[in-house]
Amino acid sequence: MSKYKSVPVLSSEITSKSQYLNRRDFLKAAGVVTGAALLAACVPQAAADPARSPGNDAAYSGKTDELGSPLNSFDDITHYNNFYEFSTAKDAVAPLSTNFKSRPWTVEVGGLVKNPKTYAIEDLLKAFPQEDRIYRLRCVEAWSMVIPWQGFPLANLLKAVEPTSDAKYVHFVTLMDKTQFPAEGSQFYPWPYEEGLRLDEAMNDLAILATGLYGESLPAQDGAPIRLVVPWKYGFKSIKSIVKIELVDKMPGTFWNTIAPNEYGFYANVNPDVPHPRWSQTSERRIGELTRRATLPFNGYGEQVAYLYEGMDLKLHY
Ligand code: MTE
Repeated sequence: MSKYKSVPVLSSEITSKSQYLNRRDFLKAAGVVTGAALLAACVPQAAADPARSPGNDAAYSGKTDELGSPLNSFDDITHYNNFYEFSTAKDAVAPLSTNFKSRPWTVEVGGLVKNPKTYAIEDLLKAFPQEDRIYRLRCVEAWSMVIPWQGFPLANLLKAVEPTSDAKYVHFVTLMDKTQFPAEGSQFYPWPYEEGLRLDEAMNDLAILATGLYGESLPAQDGAPIRLVVPWKYGFKSIKSIVKIELVDKMPGTFWNTIAPNEYGFYANVNPDVPHPRWSQTSERRIGELTRRATLPFNGYGEQVAYLYEGMDLKLHY
């Protein structure tokens, strides 16, 4: 067993584990699952808090994603968060992040590139025109949201630094700072959080660096001041509060893959046909809805991204 903790998942999020495991495997997995259930017990749904920013809901009222689904509220998006540097409890992230300082902030872009550069966040906002993108976010834990992001294509930044012909992957790293992220003191996790994409995935127009949502600069709990959003992959690929982007020639290590490689693959494409070892991925709970909905291959973005995986066995490269 890995020395690291696995992702704690609310039992309400998932369909029966025993459906996917025989009794022996089920018992073997139960140690982890029991911990998850205990944690779930102390995660009540956030109650109404008058101090919360209402966001810019009015300007976005009636908007939907391209499949016709309404946006999640600013309140949902900013009070149901996975951000382990603050806490593993989703509703604890917002209150713990109120004093987070996202200025000054720099992002170092380097590695196998012709023009390495360290950008101040202000430069990134100025140099790259910001666009609106309404995307579904599908967490590996089988819940989802629809989020109106502002940001810019990752490809635009990569083109500016000019990857060399040796560059094959992009490696992303979150800020390491225990004074800002209290949980980075925990031995249970391999800090800092890091992620990776194949270069051609990173160049796909759907992959963005988000700097805002609902027309406001990115709230701390959603990854201020800049985070990755890769909507056809499970949410854990969308790394928050990035300080470093490095072009490399080998597949980089990633936070969840290091913790539990059999549970969290490098590719992590949303795929209803590949169950997580502890739960099904065929359906999901859209936050704010009562009934579950079917999970779509590539989270519904197959037309734009399936070409990236032609000839690959996606059950093997999960
Ligand atoms: N990035 C960092 N640095 N730390 C994290 O814990 N959680 C990931 C991802 N990015 C995480 C992270 C997971 S599991 C998900 S589902 C999304 O962020 C959640 O993004 P949201 O809280 O903005 O909805």
